[in-house]
Amino acid sequence: MSALIQATVAKKRCQQLPLHDIQKLVLQGYDLHRSRYFVLTVANAKLARQFLTKLADEHWLTTAEHHRDHVAERLHGQQCPVSLGLTFKGLVALELNPRYQAVFKNKARAFAEGAHFRAAAHLADTGNNAAAFWKPEFQPDKAHVLLTLHADTQQALAQTQKTLQDMAGSAFEMVGWHNAFEGQHLEETAPARKARRVHFGMLDGISQVRIHGATDKAGTHEPGELLLGHANDEGFNAWRLATERPDLSGTSGLSAQAQSAKVASFFKNASFCAFRPMRQYVTAFQQFLDTQASEWDVSAEYLRAKLLGRWDNGQVIRTGETSAPVAQAGRLDDFKFKDDPAGLGCPFGAHIRRMNPRDDGVVPTRRRPIVRRGMPYGPAWTPAEPNGTDLERGLLGLFFCASLEDQFEHLLSEWANANPMGVPNKGTAKDPLIGNHSQPHARFDIPQDMDHDPLALQGFTPFVRTEGTLYAFFPGLHGLHMMNDSEVFGPRACHD
Ligand code: HEM
Repeated sequence: MSALIQATVAKKRCQQLPLHDIQKLVLQGYDLHRSRYFVLTVANAKLARQFLTKLADEHWLTTAEHHRDHVAERLHGQQCPVSLGLTFKGLVALELNPRYQAVFKNKARAFAEGAHFRAAAHLADTGNNAAAFWKPEFQPDKAHVLLTLHADTQQALAQTQKTLQDMAGSAFEMVGWHNAFEGQHLEETAPARKARRVHFGMLDGISQVRIHGATDKAGTHEPGELLLGHANDEGFNAWRLATERPDLSGTSGLSAQAQSAKVASFFKNASFCAFRPMRQYVTAFQQFLDTQASEWDVSAEYLRAKLLGRWDNGQVIRTGETSAPVAQAGRLDDFKFKDDPAGLGCPFGAHIRRMNPRDDGVVPTRRRPIVRRGMPYGPAWTPAEPNGTDLERGLLGLFFCASLEDQFEHLLSEWANANPMGVPNKGTAKDPLIGNHSQPHARFDIPQDMDHDPLALQGFTPFVRTEGTLYAFFPGLHGLHMMNDSEVFGPRACHD
């Protein structure tokens, strides 16, 4: 296809995606330095519904139609952009019609059950990561609403919080407003907006899932991988709901077809999100690298690159490299694992090769893309930090997708916490960065050339601890406004 035809197709798709109906955080995210996330508990359903729809009516909720200038203008007036997610228990507390609840139960079982109950079997959260040890904000009966604010300054966040709290009145329990999750990028300079680092010292946010129609650039995935009501990469739309005819007769007077269309419109352009704060133990990670580096007579920088799959400057690690090559701006994501079939550059067990195997021949063709938003929290690590006193720091992970089971949960339970794919020299260790390591003799293999045995790293301890996880539904703006529709939300008569 010529470049001109490609650009025309991309533009057409862009026009087809209703940007005004999709939350900006879902489709595009923000490049701001700070964030504040609240997990709120509904105290008064009617007041909560009024507050949440007001967020849209008064343009606090930003959509994908709002460009950077719009966001900047609002921030200038100390109004941070707001995004909104609702847990299944939250939708029940907000009095969502049971017939709509049933659609979630049929089509999004993980969401309806909630992360707390799926942690052990579907997220590999066992031992110290078990849901029983999660922060109290993740108690399933309390975690109802996830509100996120983004800004460059603490002052803007505090001002917006105050305004929103006043607007909400007694809609929510106060405790959620007081126990916010504070995100902060490690560097707050203008160039850092394009190159963010995580606490282990690596460059992040390089590889992003690009959805067709999200911008005027061509995407890598169909909208249905992220948004409900659209076809996914396999051409399948699980949320078309053409055959769902929840019986609303007697309440709506709508034809069966119109009822079906109405139900479908509630889900359209929404997305599912997993909010997962993960504490990082940087001292432990650093000590592991230093010990292994001296044991194998290589540099700690080399090992860090092998564990992640990228050098500290973001460049993917290729066969034969022992130190970072000069980074090629704009080309950091320009590589194929097909070109490295034996894992001589990027090992099979490396974080990025597990999380996005791309065209790796060892993986079935289903790609399972996940959209990563979120931000680090806590102070930057310094080598001067005394041993054993790792301060509270980590990553406030926000992962968006259309199917929590097929995408988010599969990545954690199968790709991160089972043996890596690929033969030979794949090792037996879990994902070196995020795996729930429990076997000190598990091996992370770093294949060498034909004449040398692989380096076999052992002695992994958990470098990340799960602080909690909740699953939230980020509605489209149309769906959110249905909170005003008494057939969809509100108290129901006993016979209803
Ligand atoms: C504290 C926890 C984590 C840290 C420090 C971390 C760090 C990183 C870093 C440094 C990169 C490379 C930058 C890039 O390619 O954009 C990356 C990539 C990635 N991570 Fe993580 N990550 C964490 C947790 C997770 C989790 C829980 C998931 C999945 C649910 C995940 C999924 C991914 C994906 C999909 C990529 C992109 C791979 C690619 O497309 O090449 N990460 N991560």
